[in-house]
Amino acid sequence: MFARLRPLLFALDPERAHGLTIAALAAGLGPRGGPDDPLLATTVAGLALPNPLGLAAGFDKDARVMRATLAMGFGFVEIGTVTPRPQAGNPRPRVFRLVADAAVINRLGFNNGGVAAAMARLRAHRPAGMVGVNIGANRDSVDRVADYVGCARAAAPLADYLTVNVSSPNTPGLRGLQDPGELAALIAAVRAAAGATPVFVKVAPDLDPGAIDGIARVALDGAIAGLIVSNTTLARPGVTSAEAGGLSGAPLFAPSTAVLGAFARATGGALPLIGVGGVASGEQAYAKLRAGASAVQLYTGLVYHGPALVGRIKGDLAALLRRDGFASVAAAVGTGA
Ligand SMILES: Cc1cc2nc3c(=O)[nH]c(=O)nc-3n(C[C@H](O)[C@H](O)[C@H](O)COP(=O)(O)O)c2cc1C
Repeated sequence: MFARLRPLLFALDPERAHGLTIAALAAGLGPRGGPDDPLLATTVAGLALPNPLGLAAGFDKDARVMRATLAMGFGFVEIGTVTPRPQAGNPRPRVFRLVADAAVINRLGFNNGGVAAAMARLRAHRPAGMVGVNIGANRDSVDRVADYVGCARAAAPLADYLTVNVSSPNTPGLRGLQDPGELAALIAAVRAAAGATPVFVKVAPDLDPGAIDGIARVALDGAIAGLIVSNTTLARPGVTSAEAGGLSGAPLFAPSTAVLGAFARATGGALPLIGVGGVASGEQAYAKLRAGASAVQLYTGLVYHGPALVGRIKGDLAALLRRDGFASVAAAVGTGA
């Protein structure tokens, strides 16, 4: 089905193709995955997942297709990024396919309908699976910490977990919140607003060893639920494109997995990590687990391979775990470090 649709979708502007995809999924036209192999069931930061493969933030920014993406077979889905007030984002065009590289560059800039609208949808259409809410700050915010706190207050009662996104490259200055002093204050404020809801922090792949150590220390001291590694990169590894924005997809796999491994070493396995970046196969999901991830997310792989990718990754991952004698996902975590 996707093989026939792909040329049609790829003939359209990427953002328009995405809009049509969301509309089709919201209309109930999405495929349904089969039951999960029991070997894939796992628990991350107290969250019981039927499988460790999640949908990364940005696909369903406004909480329109949670049911459809969970039905596709994802073990958890992350909506957002949402900001306190709705905002339009950057001028179009702002999403670009790099087809030869199986990559995407985006500079959307947190286009979203605001946290209240997304939470109204989540309240009205709460699906049975695991839903995380990724939160951010408005571009013109005068108090970014207050923006995160406001989103956390609104989302915590409805979300299975929150993700503090301090790593989008498309909101000027946002990544500065990864500096240890700022991050510690932000984590303390969000955790106070989130109550018992687990709080993850999503980081950039563009971090030097000193920055990784600083973030790891603050994450451990702040007793967050875990780190999501990583967002898109400002680097252009092996890619030639004049477009500004964050790069995702195949070229991000190696650098994001290296940074994931560095975080696993820096945290000594004491903090759950979720590995994201360039995953489009069971082998790559397995490599993220072996580098230290307790679960994995993807987005760009769906653009190039369609929804059947979800079942393929899960089937191949289960086969790899069995081949290597692992009795569970958790048993494989960090074994390749
Ligand atoms: C079009 C697009 C929009 C995205 N929007 C967000 C977002 O709103 N918040 C966020 O934390 N990450 C966002 N991301 C980053 C993804 O969640 C993910 O971290 C990154 O794309 C790497 O994974 P991938 O290579 O599997 O796509 C976006 C990615 C893409 C391609």
